[in-house]
Amino acid sequence: MTRPIPDPTPASGAAASLDLDGVTFRFHGRAAPAGALPAAGVGPLDLHVTPGEFLCIVGPSGSGKSTLLNLLSGFLTPQRGEIRVGGVPLRGPHRQLTLVQQEPALFPWLTVAGNVAFGLRGLRRPERDARVQEALGLVGLDGYGARRVHELSGGQRQRVSLARALAVRPGLLLLDEPFSALDVQTRAALGRELRGIWERQRITVVFVTHHLDEALSLGERVVALRDGQVSLDEASAGLSRAALDAVFGVGPAGAPGPARTAAHAH
Ligand SMILES: Nc1ncnc2c1ncn2[C@@H]1O[C@H](COP(=O)(O)OP(=O)(O)O)[C@@H](O)[C@H]1O
Ligand SMILES: [Mg+2]
Repeated sequence: MTRPIPDPTPASGAAASLDLDGVTFRFHGRAAPAGALPAAGVGPLDLHVTPGEFLCIVGPSGSGKSTLLNLLSGFLTPQRGEIRVGGVPLRGPHRQLTLVQQEPALFPWLTVAGNVAFGLRGLRRPERDARVQEALGLVGLDGYGARRVHELSGGQRQRVSLARALAVRPGLLLLDEPFSALDVQTRAALGRELRGIWERQRITVVFVTHHLDEALSLGERVVALRDGQVSLDEASAGLSRAALDAVFGVGPAGAPGPARTAAHAH
């Protein structure tokens, strides 16, 4: 497989642009029987994210948020269209495109430091250790390197997952509902820390959430998906909660509709 984005080097970490041109993905697209419902998936999507932008993607459950992030991280390949990261066409998973997910996929047999170093194979030991320390410092886990994963709280595990993604100094950081499984206070604290990391490092961030307030407070720009299509794309500064509620099917009186109930069910 070609690896179009250069491997991590001490000089890497410049924010990457992200471009989607006509990106379409359908589950079982070609096998859909005549008369069946349209196959689930996303697209066609056109989306352009400038280097250093913090984009939040919201949308009801089933609107295609995870499918989109799986496309952006190279786990799924579009049937149509093209994705470019830093101007380079994406051709599959790449270790500089780590996806931080709701359930941190950590290796229980490795220490915290071992987990964070996962994407740094190929770097020499002193450089690797320095990167691990740097990443643990960024997420507030200085001194936790020798711990085992099972000794950590849920919030700390998600910090390790974030540190692992940051250790490769990604130009683009992808997060799929990363804090949704955490309690409200921990979620808010991690959100503030992520925002602080972004303010200092100015990497490009694509953050999926179904918490509308989280999207409004974290990102500079909010894209709402509905049925795999962009239904709203606006700067968060000028965006009202009511406009976002409408995407989730909440009526003018503010009563939660069925779509909202579904979106908050997980
Ligand atoms: N592996 C899969 N096979 C078939 N359909 C899927 C698969 N994963 C997701 N879908 C469908 O694609 C649509 C979008 O799902 P998803 O991207 O997970 O939504 P979200 O993350 O916004 O909740 C849904 O209709 C879902 O049922
Ligand atoms: Mg999802």
